[in-house]
Amino acid sequence: MASFQPAMADITLTRDDMKFIAALVYEQAGIVIREHKEAMTRGRLARRVKALGMSSVAEYCAFLKTPQAAGELPELINAVTTNHTAFFRERHHFDHLRREVMPRLLQERSQRRGRIRIWSSACSSGEEAYSIAASCREAIGARGDLDFRILATDIDTDILARAEAGIYPAELFERLPPDVKPLLKLEPGAGRGEARIAEELRRMIAFKRLNLIERWPMSGPFDVIFCRNVFIYFDTQTKASILDRFVALLSPGGFLYLGHSESLPQPHPHLRLIGRTIYERTA
Ligand SMILES: C[S@@+](CC[C@H](N)C(=O)[O-])C[C@H]1O[C@@H](n2cnc3c(N)ncnc32)[C@H](O)[C@@H]1O
Repeated sequence: MASFQPAMADITLTRDDMKFIAALVYEQAGIVIREHKEAMTRGRLARRVKALGMSSVAEYCAFLKTPQAAGELPELINAVTTNHTAFFRERHHFDHLRREVMPRLLQERSQRRGRIRIWSSACSSGEEAYSIAASCREAIGARGDLDFRILATDIDTDILARAEAGIYPAELFERLPPDVKPLLKLEPGAGRGEARIAEELRRMIAFKRLNLIERWPMSGPFDVIFCRNVFIYFDTQTKASILDRFVALLSPGGFLYLGHSESLPQPHPHLRLIGRTIYERTA
């Protein structure tokens, strides 16, 4: 009997198409795709080829060169982003936030109605933003006079939808250190093998799409900015320009957290290194 398997797409990625994709992704998102990432890029493009029912990566690249492809560009960016993240990743940042920053901010805001703003600027699937909420919730306690908000943004619309739902495989939480797991106040019953972050933490966060290399709609100021494990995808010029804009949005005495392998592209006159990838805005 004949079998009717769908024809496999041709996922060959030519050198020219690789160059074209790298240039397009750089222009759209500031992400630098180096030549040695060719196999990974091919695999990620293959997913879009399949989703669109196309027959080859070459056909997809040809489509991207047409005016009709404008609506596909966000999907291309969603496909090429690396979203790896974890709850309480780089734990020392959350300990610093909880033990040093929050008590200081709460004291400063004790005389008047206090506004506290924290930005998770490449939040991926939300683990970073929920870890921030979990680290601050206890300190805020019952202070009804506080106007506390977390803004969590990312360029990737698929990953943001997952972040906003706040539902994760339960096994992710099993590996967490026992002292931080209760802070997430998990609700059971989201689905088999899943757990959901409690509503009281979810409502502390606004998730929005934001491209770090485009104009930002917020006027700030922020008390704390997390920008972790995204600078590694940018070149020096892009990093320097984003950093200047972070500093302009940070209140004096505010904090910037970078990822473990990241550093400032060059010393910044208004940022002082005060801990492991923790910077304080000086003036
Ligand atoms: C590796 S994840 C880091 C997640 C989290 N900050 C952490 O450290 O665990 C990098 C995130 O940066 C996002 N990203 C890449 N380019 C971006 C851009 N131009 N604007 C905003 N987000 C971007 C990706 O979509 C991805 O979710």
